[in-house]
Amino acid sequence: MQTLIFNGSPRTDGNTSAIIKSILKDLKGEYQILNAYACDISACTDCRYCWQNEGCSIKDGMQAVYDYIQTCDNIVIASPIYFSELTGKLLDVGSRLQTYYCAEKFRKEKLIQKPKKGAVILVGGGDGNMKKAYETACVLMKHMNCTDIYNPLFYHKTNYCDVTDDADIKAEIKNITDFLNG
Ligand SMILES: Cc1cc2nc3c(=O)[nH]c(=O)nc-3n(C[C@H](O)[C@H](O)[C@H](O)COP(=O)(O)O)c2cc1C
Repeated sequence: MQTLIFNGSPRTDGNTSAIIKSILKDLKGEYQILNAYACDISACTDCRYCWQNEGCSIKDGMQAVYDYIQTCDNIVIASPIYFSELTGKLLDVGSRLQTYYCAEKFRKEKLIQKPKKGAVILVGGGDGNMKKAYETACVLMKHMNCTDIYNPLFYHKTNYCDVTDDADIKAEIKNITDFLNG
């Protein structure tokens, strides 16, 4: 079993990273973590190469991600919310999934045959709401052929309590891990 995990937080010891670490303790199989703030992946520039061609005109770290998306079984999108959205760098990475949308829309090609399970984890200080970020995450999941998306985990109180100090979150994390393992 292979799991691709997108981490949208720049904080290696932050709440998003803590939840990911907790999932990894019991996750079966192999995994890859894409740290949006520590990768050499730039944003889509809408050059429209993929309107006619497979892949992407930008040659960077995303090529390996495209390969892993083909074979993996699970996708996890874990991110803080910034201004009620996924973080900027995660949106940069996510914009490179536009190649899958363009393949279907303009070339009538479905590039990812293998269906995947998905989980969305969002953390926030406590302002606004998670709706917009969740909808964006679901669009990205759809581009990667995630056909079975688990109930989202929203932890929306890091201004007051870190996940590491919150015993209640453990059960929710276990449910996600069980879903991915199942
Ligand atoms: C630029 C910026 C914008 C933010 N916007 C929101 C927001 O709209 N709503 C919210 O609840 N928290 C917001 N936050 C707080 C972060 O979501 C919060 O600190 C979160 O714990 C960060 O995740 P991490 O601990 O995994 O890094 C914002 C933080 C930053 C730096």
